[in-house]
Amino acid sequence: MRTQVAIIGAGPAGLLLARLLQLRGISSVVLETRSRQYIEHRIRAGVLEQGTVDTLVTAGVGERLLRQGMVHHGIELRFGGRGHRIAFEQLVPGRAITVYGQQEVVKDLIAAHLDEGGQIRFEVSDVTVDGIDTAHPEITCTRNSQRLTVQADFVAGCDGFHGVCRDAIPAGVLRFFDKEYPFGWLGVLAEVAPSAAELIYASNERGFALHSMRSPSVSRFYLQVAPDEQIAAWPDERIWPELRARLETVPDWSLATGPVLEKGVTAMRGFVTEPMQFGRLFLAGDAAHIVPPTGAKGMNLAAFDVTLLAGALGAWYGGGDGGPLERYSADCLRRVWRVQQFSWWMTTLLHTFGSYDAYDRRLQLSYLDYVCSSDAASASLAENYVGLDRSY
Ligand code: FAD
Ligand code: PHB
Repeated sequence: MRTQVAIIGAGPAGLLLARLLQLRGISSVVLETRSRQYIEHRIRAGVLEQGTVDTLVTAGVGERLLRQGMVHHGIELRFGGRGHRIAFEQLVPGRAITVYGQQEVVKDLIAAHLDEGGQIRFEVSDVTVDGIDTAHPEITCTRNSQRLTVQADFVAGCDGFHGVCRDAIPAGVLRFFDKEYPFGWLGVLAEVAPSAAELIYASNERGFALHSMRSPSVSRFYLQVAPDEQIAAWPDERIWPELRARLETVPDWSLATGPVLEKGVTAMRGFVTEPMQFGRLFLAGDAAHIVPPTGAKGMNLAAFDVTLLAGALGAWYGGGDGGPLERYSADCLRRVWRVQQFSWWMTTLLHTFGSYDAYDRRLQLSYLDYVCSSDAASASLAENYVGLDRSY
């Protein structure tokens, strides 16, 4: 097969890139190891920045998002027996977040791409990437027991943290920056109406907890746990009392419970690859960087990367301008590091660390108090949370 851009991975990064290229008349083939059914039901992120929503709407995949997504104008920080609302409408007027499941974004992108003749090959295996330091890169994979070769002008490595693209870059070219956190998140999806209209980020001596949602009848929760926590240690009878202990810390508030639909543990880390490009291979999304989910940024950053990449490829095919492709890595990394810092900051602010003594905890509470008392500090949190302007 021959195409202009070979895209490895059909997560939000790969699919949005395919869609943005499709709108520019640039051909692509998306190769994905998992089945369509699997990726359309993989529960992950849920918070879309204003800029991500705008990008999806402009890309013609916003119809269901605008109908079903829940627009939130604030979040609550809960600590020390009180709750404090970070009011976006006052702090960052005109900007908000939208709660809409990542798998719904994935469904919308797949449908739009296939409807307009886009090519996605699901369930491929043994993907290899060659010739990225030439003008004719080649991807080979197995599909239905047959070898498939895709020749392309460019390769987009959108295959997530565990993909093969990063490793296709010769040793010594890349530099990695890594931060492991001494905890993970137990994520719980439950069939119960949310107990609050907005997200609640709770800092508690027992560990962090987050109250989120997916729809008026489905809630999403996270509990700070050990990074290697076994899911078997968390029967449903243990989950609800723990969520209650961490969240029911303010007067007149109680947590509604219901059947658990899904649960899983994710370790937390920060990770950045520099540069995000080698030859004709461009890395985007989790293939290039990971953030701890406390700032709700991973999917948004993936969307940002591919928006830049689509624009840069458009400049190349439109008028032979290679400047934006050359600047791609540097342009992405500026925002990548801003988001790393914000996600680290939110994580440090809200979680308990085994290494913390009473002094450290007092510092943390003092900082939380400051963030909630000072307009300047609240505004800084708010503008990072809803997403800095796309020009950042
Ligand atoms: P992925 O979604 O990982 O997609 C990569 C794709 O490549 C996958 O479909 C994979 O199957 C495929 N693949 C892998 N290897 C190969 C290969 N060799 N060949 C072909 N295909 C391959 N982000 C937010 O913005 N907001 C949130 O609220 C948020 N919450 C999160 C909560 C949790 C519990 C987790 C785990 C993550 C959360 N994130 C959040 C992060 C977000 O889910 C990721 O950042 C996002 O999925 C990145 O998209 P991506 O397309 O880069 O990578
Ligand atoms: C989610 O709803 O999945 C979610 C919300 C906020 C976060 C992380 C995840 O910070």
